[in-house]
Amino acid sequence: MPTPTAALQVSTRAPLRELNTFGLPAVAATLVRITSEADLRRVVDHPEFGRAPKFILGGGSNVVFTRDLAALVLKIDILGRRLVQEDAHAWVLEAGAGEPWADFVAWSLAQGWPGLENLALIPGSVGAAPVQNIGAYGVELKDRFESLDAVDLTTGRTVRLTAAECHFGYRDSVFKGLLAGKSVITRVRFRVPKPWRAALGYLELERKMAETGNHAPDARTIFDWICAVRRAKLPDPAVIGNAGSFFKNPVVTAEQCRDIIGRDPEIVHYPMPDGSVKLAAGWLIDACGWKGKTVGKAGVYEKQALVLVNRGGATGAEVMTLARAIQESVYGRFGIRLEPEPVVV
Ligand code: EPU
Repeated sequence: MPTPTAALQVSTRAPLRELNTFGLPAVAATLVRITSEADLRRVVDHPEFGRAPKFILGGGSNVVFTRDLAALVLKIDILGRRLVQEDAHAWVLEAGAGEPWADFVAWSLAQGWPGLENLALIPGSVGAAPVQNIGAYGVELKDRFESLDAVDLTTGRTVRLTAAECHFGYRDSVFKGLLAGKSVITRVRFRVPKPWRAALGYLELERKMAETGNHAPDARTIFDWICAVRRAKLPDPAVIGNAGSFFKNPVVTAEQCRDIIGRDPEIVHYPMPDGSVKLAAGWLIDACGWKGKTVGKAGVYEKQALVLVNRGGATGAEVMTLARAIQESVYGRFGIRLEPEPVVV
């Protein structure tokens, strides 16, 4: 009789360099490849794995490895995508956590279910997308979210979470807090509303409309525009290792903002509905002269100062040395503490 754990795909001393988009070297003492909810239950029931601390790895696009991992690494490879419901008001789409996010967006559009186009070309997996509530060009994941399934790593039970239960915030959710390492997202469902409406409020999309004279772009055109904007500004992780924006855009009070504007009238800032003000971290870093700089084998991307890159052979420690130097100079000049966006391990 095979034991319940017999079917698990386990590797020991597994290299992680190919499994993170920064291309940072690290080794997992033990890595288990998860292709189904049943695999997760096998992990929970396993005499040794069940009790071990766990690290959940999706597409590896939002993580900085600064050391080898003693925790059991669960590499999530659950696949599958389908339309689960359609009514007069919306299409509900579902994808396995291991599906690449960018492929899922392109597929949904090709199937004739538009609504995710502003989130085109974001690296990472579907399962990682809710963890940091990915967002770009005026749309956040939470705006199109229906529900998700997650397996509790203590009980092995699958639970369904609503948006309210996920506690989505700016690049944040319950999976970065209370449920970190405790619960694994296995499937995510998205509600794309009917009739489709373009989200065009972002400056770069307004620029594209002015450039092309097309003021009523369809979803495919918006998709193509977003892909072009991203390709022009953000490094392709397949070519230059990176984890997207390295810092969150900091939020300050209106008073703090007035004070900073008094000293630096050019500062890029966005008033928030609650009266606070979000500042463009990329602008702050750029203003401190970091764009294009290199420290060791880590650097600041030439076209977008918010993105740190691996110039080739960098370690996580080198990336964090650069990150701290940037934090210190931004604090020194503006009195603002930048917070890293990726998970630092
Ligand atoms: N800016 C500079 N210099 C720079 C970079 C930016 O002056 O080197 C200025 C820009 O000119 C612009 C402002 O800062 O006026 C904001 O820049 P941008 O529009 O590129 O957006 P961002 O705030 O830097 C955020 C997200 C991105 C997302 C874009 C587009 C965060 C941390 N980042 O970047 O998300 O793609 O908006 O919506 O919120 C990610 O999270 O990994 C990510 C790439």
